[in-house]
Amino acid sequence: MSSIRSVIAAGLLGLSLLTRVLGDNPINPGFPYGAQKVRGVNLGGWLVLEPWITPSLFDQTGNDAIIDEWTFGQYQDYNTAHSALVNHWNSWITEEDFVQIAAAGLNHVRVPIGYWAFEVGPGEPYIQGQLPYLQRAATWAGNHGLKMIVDLHGAPGSQNGFDNSGQKMDFPHWHSNGTNVARTNAIIKRIADMFKDNANVVTTIAPLNEPAGFDGQDVLDTVRQYWRDSYGNIRYPYGSSRESNTLVLLHDAFQPLDYWNGFLTAPDAQGVAMDTHIYTIFSDQEESMSESQHISTVCGKQSSLSSFDLWVIVGEWTPANTDCAKYLNGRGVGARYDGSYPGSPCVGSCNGKTGAASSFSSSYKTFLRKFWEAQVISYEKGSGWIQWTWKAENADEWSYQAGLANGWIPRDPTDLQYPNICG
Ligand SMILES: *[C@@H]1O[C@H](CO)[C@@H](O)[C@H](O)[C@H]1NC(C)=O
Repeated sequence: MSSIRSVIAAGLLGLSLLTRVLGDNPINPGFPYGAQKVRGVNLGGWLVLEPWITPSLFDQTGNDAIIDEWTFGQYQDYNTAHSALVNHWNSWITEEDFVQIAAAGLNHVRVPIGYWAFEVGPGEPYIQGQLPYLQRAATWAGNHGLKMIVDLHGAPGSQNGFDNSGQKMDFPHWHSNGTNVARTNAIIKRIADMFKDNANVVTTIAPLNEPAGFDGQDVLDTVRQYWRDSYGNIRYPYGSSRESNTLVLLHDAFQPLDYWNGFLTAPDAQGVAMDTHIYTIFSDQEESMSESQHISTVCGKQSSLSSFDLWVIVGEWTPANTDCAKYLNGRGVGARYDGSYPGSPCVGSCNGKTGAASSFSSSYKTFLRKFWEAQVISYEKGSGWIQWTWKAENADEWSYQAGLANGWIPRDPTDLQYPNICG
C-alpha cells in the first residue's frame, strides 16, 4: 500500500517537474501587469447585446418576448434581425471611440464576445457576423496604443442564466453538459490562435465571464477544471514546446478571493490574473444603503485586493448606486430601488437617478464623482480596473463617455478631487 503510494507520489512529482522544465516559464506580457495599473473600459452591449445598454434595439422589435440575443434571433425573421445587428455593430463602437478612450488616459479595453460568433449549434437561433468586428477592435486598439482583453461573455447552455450571456434562463446548464464545455474549450483554442502573435495588443484572454458559482459545487467543480484547461489552451497555442505571452484572466465565479488561494499560481502556472466584479446594487439590502455606505463598502475591498496572490483586476464596476437603469434587471423587469422589481421594497424614486445626465442634480453628480474616485483608489490597491461600460443609450450614470462629458469622471483618471475619500 505504502509502496503504491510512493510510486504514485513519485509519478506526480516527476510530472510536475517535467511540466516545469518543459514550460511554464515566466512570460513576457504586452503590458506591465503588477507594475502599472490597468485603467480601462468595457465595450459592453456591442458584440453581445444587452437590453439595458441598447433598449431601442429591443423596443424596435415590437415583440416583448425578445429579451436577449437568443430570442432576438428566434422571434424575428433572419433578414430583419441580421440587418439590425449589422447596423448596430457598424455604429455602436467605431474607431473614434478608441480615439476617445485613449485620450481619456485609459490603457485597456475589454471586449465581450459570445460563443455564437464562432460556432452555432443545431437549433440555436443566434445570428453570426461579429468576428470581423472583434478583429477590427484589435486593429483599432493597436492603432491607438490600447491593450485589449478578449472576454468570452456567453458559453453554450449559458454559464449564468443572465441575459448578457446571450440566453436568459432560471438555471444555466453550461456546467452540467460536457458537450457545452467541450465546445467552449474549442472556442478558447480558436481565440488563442487568432491573437497569439498579437499579444502586444491583445494582451489578455478571459476564458469565461461570470460563471454562476452561486449555483453550487457542481458549477465550481466544472469551472475549476475549465480554468485549468483554459490555461493550457491559452498558454500553448503553438503546441507544447512554446508558450504564448497572453495573460489568462480567470473570473472568481462570485466566490471570495481567498476561495482561489493557491489556484494556478507560480511557479506551476505563469501569467494568470483574477477578475472580480464589484457591484453594490443587485440586492434589496444594497439598494437601501446610503451614499456614504456605498463608498465605505468599496473602500472596504482594499485589503483583499492588495493581498491576493494573483494580480487582481476589477473587470466590472460602476459609479451607479441604484439598479434604476431601464431593463437593467431584464427587459420588462423593474428596479429594486423604486419597488417595481417583484418583492422589493421601495427605497426612493428613480427619477433623476438614471437616463440623461441633464436630469441629474448637482449633488447626485458630486456623489457619482466621489463614488467613482473611491472605486478607482480602492481598485488600484489591486492591479487596476475596467469600468462597465463605455456607452449606454439611456443610462448616463453607467457611461464612462457621459461621465467625461458631464464632469464626474476626470479627463485624466489620476486627477482626483477626493484623494482621501477612503480615509
Ligand atoms: C448538451 O448540450 C448540447 C449543445 O451543446 C446539446 O445538443 C445536447 O442536447 C445537450 N445534452 C443534454 C443531455 O442536454
